[in-house]
Amino acid sequence: MDYRSEIKKLAKEKDAIILAHNYQIDEIQEIADIVGDSLGLSIEASKTDKSVIVFCGVHFMAETAHMLAPDKTVLLPNLDAGCPMADMITGEKLREFKKDYPDATTVCYVNSSAEVKSESDLCCTSGNAINVIKSVDSDQIIFVPDKNLGHYVQRFTDKEIILYPGFCPIHNRLTPKQVEEIMAKYPNAEFVAHPECPPAVVDMADHVCSTSGLYTYCKNSDSKQFIIGTEKGVGYRLRKENPDKEFIFAYDEFICKNMKKTSLKNVYDCLSNMENVITVDAEVTKKAVTCIERMLAIPRNE
Ligand code: 13P
Ligand code: SF4
Repeated sequence: MDYRSEIKKLAKEKDAIILAHNYQIDEIQEIADIVGDSLGLSIEASKTDKSVIVFCGVHFMAETAHMLAPDKTVLLPNLDAGCPMADMITGEKLREFKKDYPDATTVCYVNSSAEVKSESDLCCTSGNAINVIKSVDSDQIIFVPDKNLGHYVQRFTDKEIILYPGFCPIHNRLTPKQVEEIMAKYPNAEFVAHPECPPAVVDMADHVCSTSGLYTYCKNSDSKQFIIGTEKGVGYRLRKENPDKEFIFAYDEFICKNMKKTSLKNVYDCLSNMENVITVDAEVTKKAVTCIERMLAIPRNE
């Protein structure tokens, strides 16, 4: 079957929009209506006039889309696509953690469950985390679950950021030694890193940004070679938009298995059967949606 054309037909028939994260496999990025980072895709989900949102990403992204567009049907083509970092904290764990800091504002990374969002005051993505932190009035901020992103935003504020020990297993694996070695091999390359990387790696970067920020940076830079400190899915668009530039990934296996689980067949099946519908409990949504909407009102980092 020619999945590409069948999916296009089905999407029209079902009045669906296909959203895909920048880490999805090339074939999914090719057929998607919109490809973007977590922030961009949340914005698209909140403003679409389509009846169905097919979210090619991981579970928390589809949950967030449903909370922002509760009258739409949100489909996650592969239900096994989760985020190990988001799973490192639960609503229960966050309630316990907050007890030690009664005056703190809680900011959660969008890579978290709906329940964690319902226990948080404000949400952020890597695309607007600095501005979100700057918008907080209180002197103490609990930041969950990504300790690396929390550590990164601490560089931009005098407020005390209380870190939770979560991390992305894919970004956290990158070591300064690996970066050093690859820099020695490509001495003229710029190093661009995602803020989910460990602080010692972030220290070595020429630029730190979200996945979509990376496209803008590499396009505008005069450099011809870039060492990329994030998941390999971004290579598809980087190569397409910059045929004269070379992109070297900081380590070979910079791959999020969960982001790679969605296939064209999954997209076709979920649309044709209208299956894998993601919903969030109405009470949880009521509490969580405020922190997500507050996030959408805050502009991207520079
Ligand atoms: P962004 O989409 O914010 O760049 O984050 C990357 C990520 O790890 C998503 O799971
Ligand atoms: Fe989660 Fe990391 Fe995969 Fe993003 S790259 S979905 S943070 S495990």
